Amino acid sequence: MIKISPSILSCDYSRMGEEFENMKKCGADWLHIDVMDGHFVPNITLGAPIVKCMRKCSDLIFDVHLMISDPKKYIPDFVKAGADVITFHIESDSPVDETLDLIKESGCVPALSVKPGTPVEEVFPYLDKVGMVLVMTVEPGFGGQSFMADMMPKVEKLRAEITKRGLDIDIQVDGGVSLKTVEQCAKAGANVLVAGSAVFGADDPKEAISGLRALAAKYF
Ligand code: DX5
Ligand code: ZN
Repeated sequence: MIKISPSILSCDYSRMGEEFENMKKCGADWLHIDVMDGHFVPNITLGAPIVKCMRKCSDLIFDVHLMISDPKKYIPDFVKAGADVITFHIESDSPVDETLDLIKESGCVPALSVKPGTPVEEVFPYLDKVGMVLVMTVEPGFGGQSFMADMMPKVEKLRAEITKRGLDIDIQVDGGVSLKTVEQCAKAGANVLVAGSAVFGADDPKEAISGLRALAAKYF
């Protein structure tokens, strides 16, 4: 199933409540929340206390993307704050198996992400434990960067492996996803589409979300 997950990195945080409400009205399935620690990536965003406040503003699925060095340490905080899907990077310092188990035991959906330079095969040993894999289509850290089309073979390889093993796993792409690039993502096998600037920067976010969904739906 196609899911559109607007990245709130591009929203107006001074009007968070309105922005989230509007995303729901515009047809968003999830809200993508980027957590950066200024260490794993060269940017700092927000932590669990803010996610807890966000939870009061929205009942959409919270898709929390942890770009932090030690995700395992902070999983309980994000669970308590109201996360639904929790993604961390395979390149982080936390033990992958233990962190996936902790997320699952907490009742959230565990997901693993790969940066552009990491071969997607590195997630294959963990496929039995994840509900989603995020293939980054930009270097993590900032919104508004250009889409890396050369990540599509990674999405294709991953989709082929998931199908071969008869698993039911979402593939998410994040970074530079727009009306211009979404088709290549879906064609390669991605069904969860994160879009920051393409949604929040659009004149009509509702049209942007339905446009993304319609273009992706051609392949699912
Ligand atoms: C980048 C973040 C993305 C970012 C995407 O590190 O993980 O979620 O907000 O923004 P756009 O869609 O503008 O590239
Ligand atoms: Zn993200």
